[in-house]
Amino acid sequence: MVPKRKLEEKDIHPLLKLIDRQNLPQHIAIIMDGNGRWAKSRGLKRIEGHKAGIEGVRAAVEASSELGIKFLTLYAFSVENWKRPQSEVRSLFELLDRYLDKEFKKIEENKIRFKAMGRLHDLPSKTKKHLSVVEEKTRDYNGLTLTLALSYGGRTEICDAVNKILDEEEKGKYKEKITDEKFREFLYCPHLPDPDLLIRTSGEYRLSNFMLWQIAYTEIIILDTLWPDFRKEHFYEAVLDYQKRERRYGGITE
Ligand code: IPE
Ligand code: IPE
Ligand code: MG
Repeated sequence: MVPKRKLEEKDIHPLLKLIDRQNLPQHIAIIMDGNGRWAKSRGLKRIEGHKAGIEGVRAAVEASSELGIKFLTLYAFSVENWKRPQSEVRSLFELLDRYLDKEFKKIEENKIRFKAMGRLHDLPSKTKKHLSVVEEKTRDYNGLTLTLALSYGGRTEICDAVNKILDEEEKGKYKEKITDEKFREFLYCPHLPDPDLLIRTSGEYRLSNFMLWQIAYTEIIILDTLWPDFRKEHFYEAVLDYQKRERRYGGITE
């Protein structure tokens, strides 16, 4: 998190100095992948990889806060991840509960606004309560908005949005034609801008059902690094790579 004392020249990471503060991505989304392979390569159980992945989460959150990124969204558990063995699923939610307990002080100190998005009613009731307490306590903070995607699926989010529209239509409330901007209002987090940058770790070139509607024009960076090895350096390098890209949105630049 942001250090209390003022950063001295020698403490500032050389990569951080190269980042153009006028051209920061407003929203960074991360598919945190590779925990299982990290554990396997060490002869450990998969859950040890998830535990080690907490270091990656810390690095991403701290780097975002320090850089002044406004929105960070982390894909932590997909709707498809329910297929995994019950023991792994249970351990993942226990880890999440522990993370929220342990990091809450830092979340408060850094004025991080915490959000969760996905089919949250599917989560264990203890986790659900925990998430809503942290959301409630941090709702007025104006630092980084940290969103965890939990029991999240991009297609599920789109279907949930369509069903909300249909419900309203039935009540006679929805009469307009759907546009991009209208549709956005029915997503899980309507005020979350589209990600500017999507990072996926572990060298997999796929989206695995993440934010399908929102990433239409997102810049994508795939890193070979496994999530438990993810550090601030990887984050800064991704931002530097992003800053070299030309975003054309279908137009042309002369
Ligand atoms: C990402 O790591 C964490 C979750 C999906 C919960 P994985 O558990 O998918 O690790 P790999 O991909 O099997 O290495
Ligand atoms: C994507 O990783 C989901 C999360 C990071 C939470 P997976 O490991 O579940 O994705 P696949 O199965 O490799 O596509
Ligand atoms: Mg995986």
